[in-house]
Amino acid sequence: MPELRSLAANSPSRRANWKALGLSQEDMLKPKIAVVNSSSELAICYAHLDGIARIVKEEIRKAGGIPFEVRTAAPSDFITGANKAGSYILAGRDIIANDIEVQVEAALLDGMICLTSCDKTPPGHLMAAARLNIPTILVIGGYQQAGQIDGEPVDVEDVWSGQIGERFGKKPKFPIADLAENAIMGPGVCAGMATANTMHSVVEALGMALPGHAPVRGNSPKMQENARAAARRIVEMVGEDLKPRSILTEGAFRNAIATVLAVSGSINAIKHLQATAIEAENGLDIFAMWEEMADVPVLSAVRPTGEVRIEQFEDAGGARAILKRLLPMIEGSALTCTGKTLAENLEGYEVEGPDVIRPLDNPIGPGPAIAILGGNFADTAVVRLGIRDGSRPEEFEGPARVFESSMECLQGIEDGVVKPGDVVIARNQGLKGGPAMGGSASLVLFALDAAGLAKTTAFVTDGQLSGLCLKGLTVAEVAPEAAIGGPIGLVQDGDIIRISVQNRSIDIDLTAEEMATRTGPGFRIPATGYLSTFRQDVQPMRTGGVLLPAKE
Ligand code: FES
Repeated sequence: MPELRSLAANSPSRRANWKALGLSQEDMLKPKIAVVNSSSELAICYAHLDGIARIVKEEIRKAGGIPFEVRTAAPSDFITGANKAGSYILAGRDIIANDIEVQVEAALLDGMICLTSCDKTPPGHLMAAARLNIPTILVIGGYQQAGQIDGEPVDVEDVWSGQIGERFGKKPKFPIADLAENAIMGPGVCAGMATANTMHSVVEALGMALPGHAPVRGNSPKMQENARAAARRIVEMVGEDLKPRSILTEGAFRNAIATVLAVSGSINAIKHLQATAIEAENGLDIFAMWEEMADVPVLSAVRPTGEVRIEQFEDAGGARAILKRLLPMIEGSALTCTGKTLAENLEGYEVEGPDVIRPLDNPIGPGPAIAILGGNFADTAVVRLGIRDGSRPEEFEGPARVFESSMECLQGIEDGVVKPGDVVIARNQGLKGGPAMGGSASLVLFALDAAGLAKTTAFVTDGQLSGLCLKGLTVAEVAPEAAIGGPIGLVQDGDIIRISVQNRSIDIDLTAEEMATRTGPGFRIPATGYLSTFRQDVQPMRTGGVLLPAKE
């Protein structure tokens, strides 16, 4: 056992505090483990975590550790209204990392186990683990049980797409009220390969969760057993002094990128991986690495990419099965939280559902499912391609139809302003403009689809997209964003925009001299309080939008 930092910090006042909290003299000598519980009664994503925390604490005590539950912010799409200016969701990611630093680092605890759930908790936990660099393991919080109507499964994506579709006159298959009544039948994250389930798979691929834990039915007996296993393991990890920066290596990040591509996951994973790499101070450029992994094919088509339900994906082996399939082209030597390499973890494992998680020589589609574009319109921009079966354009040229926000864009679609052939632009939705990428750019995709324009237009935004959306040719997270004077803030109606997936390019048909005559930066959504602080401090997209100040 290495010297415990909780012991090294021993002092009479600290001992007095521990004793008053119920610790015996014997307990004082044991490893002290933070149980990071991003819990909230406001969102179903978190509703079960207090029970899981109790299980984890009990198991840590049995394994010879002393648990201390600490609470953090718990941002969720269910809490932030769709029309709210600014995004407390992305901004919440960094609050979680800071919450953990303020509590776990301040108390000089010896390790931590993080109960990870809704979209921004996995990256918040990963960032904190990388920053604090104390033994850490993540427990995958699991996904919601979907409901049924007339024997057909329905989930929360059906509610979101149904409500916006209805606004555009597209009748949902079932009444919205019935969808809302039946879509969510248990605690956990949104069903489908949206941001949360993508990030849960990323956590396992990075080696920061135990093998076979992602995804998992929320609060199921299996998830509870996973939590017990992780609790036992974190006590061992403290004894082994196995720290996150030994796990969060370049190989681990490659494995995570490959996993996102193989499941055609959420584009949000890119910035979260970059933010984690920045916290780990390993110098990795995730955007550059992303393109190096472009050969990774799509091996499983979970909704919304395809029709596979998340339950089927879990039953087929989930992230572990994806990693097993990918092993010939990824870094099997990457160390994981088991203390073994990824390849060692996968020894003897067989994919349970070979039709759902396909082999490399018989993929669902060629890679990449997500690509990074650049050009005179953007230093970086992200295009989500999904299954590249020719059903959506990959080359597009057309006149810009510019809107100052997603809400204006929605109105423009509703008013018939958007025409086939247009490059529809919703700007001022970025890290600073949003701020924190608020403004619900994702809704525009639902609206274009509902209006029958998804395949005949291209959509370009400096905002982010929910992982739930996959319609038409969509380029998001354009950087530099409008609010700091990027070309997306200078473009005018009628300017010609060219997008080429093959060339990985997005360009505007203007010379640098012509661009210099345009004025910017443009409009910023008003913000107060924390969002205004976020706007001031947030670093560019190339950093994953971290809030870190320059090193002192
Ligand atoms: Fe929490 Fe979807 S709102 S995972």
